[in-house]
Amino acid sequence: MTPGYTAAAAASPNIALIKYWGNRIPVLRVPANGSISITLGGLETQTRVTFSEEWTQDRLILEGKVIDGRALSRVATHLDLIRQRSGVTLHACVESTSNFPLGAGIASSASAFAALTLAACAAAGLSLSSIELSRLARRGSGSACRSIFGGFVEWHAGTSDEDSYAEPLAPSEHWGLVNLVALVHREHKAVTSAEGHLLAETSPLQAARVAGAPDRLRECREALLSRDFDRLARVVELDSNLLHAVMMTSDPALFYWLPDTLRIIHAVSEWRQKGLPVCYTIDAGPNVHCLCPVEVAQQVDSLLRRVPGVSTLLRSQPGDAARLL
Ligand code: PMV
Repeated sequence: MTPGYTAAAAASPNIALIKYWGNRIPVLRVPANGSISITLGGLETQTRVTFSEEWTQDRLILEGKVIDGRALSRVATHLDLIRQRSGVTLHACVESTSNFPLGAGIASSASAFAALTLAACAAAGLSLSSIELSRLARRGSGSACRSIFGGFVEWHAGTSDEDSYAEPLAPSEHWGLVNLVALVHREHKAVTSAEGHLLAETSPLQAARVAGAPDRLRECREALLSRDFDRLARVVELDSNLLHAVMMTSDPALFYWLPDTLRIIHAVSEWRQKGLPVCYTIDAGPNVHCLCPVEVAQQVDSLLRRVPGVSTLLRSQPGDAARLL
């Protein structure tokens, strides 16, 4: 094995407050609209990449299991970008583990491609700026460009590979917002977000969702920077509902919600009406992310545990940027 051709990195997933759905340039994952997220501290994917003459093709080992098919070819395509850029021609072995369930609406592809990008670039001897890493991570999975950074992050949609990347909006210590993911289902989702993006344009509501995105981004940015929870809650729930309205009106229709998802939505709305600062947001899966200020997190935690159908709660606070191990 060639020494020095191995590196490991860790990255956290993120939850989008203003969502990315649909691409302006699908092959480059240049999105239809900009987005804003919180990097989820405590949840993490760790990935080691080893380029070596030993391998006759790229290998992917997830949670100790050898994986092939679509997941492997997506990783191999991403490694090709890094090989082209670095001049390394060797195949790689990619070993990855996460401390949260994959494919259940907890942006696992975000932490996976952020960690893979960072580890593969280091293993190939490339030294890139965070913005260059963000651009590159975006090619593997759009939301991964946000997981390169910690805290509160904005992805500028841009119109080309060059100007589509994420940047920090505020550091993790800016606001102690807690994200409680209420898990109602742990299975891998039937339609991946990669497939879902291709359907976005088939919804008659997508154009309206995209047209309103700049206003929602501004509202979200201002609410975050001024730590105005009520303002944030309203725009976050609106944006999540718009995303799912687009999904449900695509052809074919995508229904990620389960009955328990809606039960939690109702419960959270009722709690907020009664004065408890909490709001919900849902990605491409049935699990519900509940956001609240740290001061009421324990109360929200106990309330959520009493909602029928909530099997597990994953708790996180704004976390750190992706890092080399
Ligand atoms: O990065 P992808 O292709 O997994 O897409 C993520 C899509 C959503 O999670 C639904 C929204 C988002 O902005 O993270």
